[in-house]
Amino acid sequence: EQIKKGNYDHFMQKEIHEQPNSLTTTMRGRLKDNGVVLGGLKDHMKTIRHSRRIIFIGCGTSYHAALASRPFLEELCGIPVTMELASDLLDREGPIYREDTAVFVSQSGETADTLLALEYALKNGALCVGITNTVGSTLARKTHCGIHINAGCEIGVASTKAYTSQIVVMAMMALAIGSDRLSTQARRESIIAGLSDLPNKVREVLKRDGEMKDLAESLIDTQSLLVFGRGYNYATALEGALKVKEVALMHSEGMLAGEMKHGPLALVDETLPIIVIATRDTCFSKQQSVIQQLHARKGRLIVMCSEGDAPSVCTGDSCRVIEVPQVADCLQPVINIIPLQLLAYHLTVLRGYDVDQPRNLAKSVTTQ
Ligand code: G6P
Repeated sequence: EQIKKGNYDHFMQKEIHEQPNSLTTTMRGRLKDNGVVLGGLKDHMKTIRHSRRIIFIGCGTSYHAALASRPFLEELCGIPVTMELASDLLDREGPIYREDTAVFVSQSGETADTLLALEYALKNGALCVGITNTVGSTLARKTHCGIHINAGCEIGVASTKAYTSQIVVMAMMALAIGSDRLSTQARRESIIAGLSDLPNKVREVLKRDGEMKDLAESLIDTQSLLVFGRGYNYATALEGALKVKEVALMHSEGMLAGEMKHGPLALVDETLPIIVIATRDTCFSKQQSVIQQLHARKGRLIVMCSEGDAPSVCTGDSCRVIEVPQVADCLQPVINIIPLQLLAYHLTVLRGYDVDQPRNLAKSVTTQ
């Protein structure tokens, strides 16, 4: 087992640091100068383009990866995208039609809820697309078509490298589906350039490891942690909080910053740490105003911002900053989750919990 971990103490740590390579493998052979080639979707592209809506279905981290991808899929393809947690879709027996494309996202390809939702969507006549890390999995076999994320085997129960590879695969999927739209060609080209450079930017952000360990030390005894995000990084807030709760066993909630004034604001005081994701995109000024409101209530702030933005986002003495490299706005979730993965990892080690086998959790939940 130690051989497989190489120089790392835990699989989760290894998998976090592997991300420049896993993302390179995910994109290998798929990015071309003026487009994306996804052999797995080729025969069904016409049906996907003509579908009435795209429904993303998954559980846990895979659901968050789909949520992170929703904004750019809508933007590049012009097709409405709805989100379903697999268990909730089954509980409601929500409507699914022949004109729908249902995209199932699952690292293992064996999660029971996701597979039952797949059976349900197949029965209702939707085109079913699978996005998985596991060749030969039930999901890969039972869907009509799909894309392997090729992130390499993931052993830590908390998903890390599969999450970033899933987002990149869905970015490539959006580029491929939207490739017949002339109006977004320049935008697509800039995203493709961003994808090519993404592993380098991930390498840069991984250098924040020591800084995230320091931050973890300052948070070791806190009861709770909130993470506020919006737009492209709403999913980052949910996923960052999930990482902290599942491995560090610390109460943590990811929240949509736009909902702050509708309840969470009541929790703000000098002791509760709040991470605000405020990297540069069209939501930046709204996040600046969230930061001001939290300052005014003496919140204990940790702001994640784009490199060079620290002076403009953090004015109070008590504010800590995590600066991250800036990439194309829709790819920023891939960068922003990494400091939060590192934070969750260090918090877990410092609090003395099992990193790779968190209490009560399983890598693949094959029962309902
Ligand atoms: C379990 C794991 C999570 C994972 C979820 C979905 O709960 O502990 O890390 O995100 O299942 O798994 P899947 O294999 O479908 O992506």
